[in-house]
Amino acid sequence: DWTIANFIEMEVTNIRQQVGDRKVLCALSGGVDSSVVAALIHKAIGNQLTCIFVDHGLLRKNEAEEVTATFQDDFDMNFIKIDAADRFLSKLKGVDDPEQKRKIIGNEFIYVFDDEADKLKDIDFLAQGTLYTDVIESGTETAQTIKSHHNVGGLPDDMQFELIEPLNTLFKDEVRELGLQLGLPENIVWRQPFPGPGLAIRVLGEVTEEKLKIVRESDAILREEIAAAGLERDIWQYFTVLPDIRSVGVMGDARTYDYTIGIRAVTSVDGMTSDWARIPWDVLEKISTRLVNDVEHINRVVYDVTSKPPATIEWE
Ligand code: XMP
Repeated sequence: DWTIANFIEMEVTNIRQQVGDRKVLCALSGGVDSSVVAALIHKAIGNQLTCIFVDHGLLRKNEAEEVTATFQDDFDMNFIKIDAADRFLSKLKGVDDPEQKRKIIGNEFIYVFDDEADKLKDIDFLAQGTLYTDVIESGTETAQTIKSHHNVGGLPDDMQFELIEPLNTLFKDEVRELGLQLGLPENIVWRQPFPGPGLAIRVLGEVTEEKLKIVRESDAILREEIAAAGLERDIWQYFTVLPDIRSVGVMGDARTYDYTIGIRAVTSVDGMTSDWARIPWDVLEKISTRLVNDVEHINRVVYDVTSKPPATIEWE
């Protein structure tokens, strides 16, 4: 009988057999797949596993803290957090082309990870959260022709590691169930998809600290209100984007000239196509009021009502 419990037992045995007394490295993003793979391998071999978490400064509010609390504190893993925000931001300075931004972040991620991996001795294996769908789709790289996707799977080819991919027979829903049974918290198991380049592709054009702050704060408010409305599981992805637009408004008696923020919320099955989510108007109203009142430099809120195709989910 195939059950998650049986799967765990079987994989723990397999991993122990494969690894023996050697060491495994895992690039942890805080996303569902890499988190579950880390938890599973940790269950099998404990501190023979080391996880590297690169904080590129482009994460959402509190995300780095939540990941650290889970893996370092609760699971007590060998957990290395690298604060590389300055490195990424300085590389992104003056760059406004979306593809160039993606490439810079993808490459920098590899350099940072590489630097850290080099310091560790005697690593033989690299763990990856490859799912069954990734295995199938890797033949047809349609998404890559539109945007160069970056995720923690995109590590250098010349790394001298053997791969461990214990999730490569599973679908997403099975991975979530597995995560829950391994003791991962709901905020990780039910985390919405988040692109490798992070908030950098939600600040359109050049990324600055001020703009990152606007998109990070507004995203946090949006998430709070979607949760308060009980809509978290109904919407595939929801986030804010900061186009490089300022417009005139009025606050009290005074004229303002400030940023417009966009809300993107979509329903989807696999991210390949999507429809814009029909968020109730009273929820949108509440979000809009809070965004303008609570986030400095926002004086206008717009809602993206485009499906994919012709738009993509992310704006860059
Ligand atoms: P698009 O914007 O192409 O996004 O419609 C489809 C899905 O992919 C996510 N996305 C990424 N995921 N690395 C990732 O791991 C990336 O570089 C990346 N870019 C987009 C996006 O959030 C959506 O879920």
